[in-house]
Amino acid sequence: MKGGLITLVAGLVLGVAAYAAFDGVMYYTSTDDFCGNSCHEMETPRNALQQTPHHSNAHGVTVGCSDCHIPKEFVPKMLRKIEASREVWGHWTGVIDTPEKYAAHRPAMAERELNRLRANDSQECRNCHEVAQMDFAAQDRTVRRYHRGIEQRGKTCIDCHEGIAH
Ligand code: HEC
Ligand code: HEC
Ligand code: HEC
Repeated sequence: MKGGLITLVAGLVLGVAAYAAFDGVMYYTSTDDFCGNSCHEMETPRNALQQTPHHSNAHGVTVGCSDCHIPKEFVPKMLRKIEASREVWGHWTGVIDTPEKYAAHRPAMAERELNRLRANDSQECRNCHEVAQMDFAAQDRTVRRYHRGIEQRGKTCIDCHEGIAH
């Protein structure tokens, strides 16, 4: 009985420690520091993003890499992290380590990310921008019409807003 209790407590402690470590890794690998600064390959998107309202605007709200590229839901997030480990491998093997190589791979990389957003109905955009919350009166007439009709048209944000960040 005593042995069983010790095993149970040890198991709990290990479980909590493993969870904390896991959470720490998940958190760190989602920071802009990791995504945008830890490898020079990401200078191209980072420099471009810094010129857009998603980086700096009158309201002082900043959108980071992970806000658009890493899902918040557990399973999609894990799948994206697994895919990202292939990207880390790409870093070590120098797949896009010059601006020329980045440019050559860009269409394929962009298409993969666009397909991901098409498949999830631009979920990451919708985490911040809710159509139901849009003040249509404040939008241009044409723009308002696009957003209002989004469901009937079977369109998703990224169909019209490709190239939004970089
Ligand atoms: C973490 C929150 C967040 C996410 C995620 C996000 N946005 Fe934004 N978006 C903002 C903020 C904040 C602004 C700037 C508002 C301002 O100018 O004050 C903005 C501005 C915009 C604008 C107008 C400015 C421009 O650059 O044209 C568009 C269009 C837009 N977002 C579309 C998108 C799309 C499409 C996605 C998904 C790929 C997305 N946003 C993801 C918060 C977010
Ligand atoms: C059928 C095309 C279309 C679709 C689909 C679409 N938009 Fe837009 N949106 C536009 C156009 C055109 C503009 C005006 C030009 C610009 O800011 O890029 C615009 C502007 C915006 C703006 C800036 C509004 C302003 O008045 O400053 C935001 C934010 C935005 N869109 C978010 C979204 C989000 C989020 C989705 C998905 C839920 C979405 N859009 C879907 C065409 C579209
Ligand atoms: C507001 C949303 C948003 C933010 C913030 C954002 N991205 Fe992107 N990113 C996209 C979209 C959408 C695509 C798909 C291609 C396109 O639309 O041009 C993309 C494509 C990419 C690609 C594929 C190659 C390319 O250049 O198209 C890379 C790599 C990338 N992003 C890295 C980053 C990094 C690193 C950061 C942070 C410094 C970042 N992104 C911030 C929306 C975003």
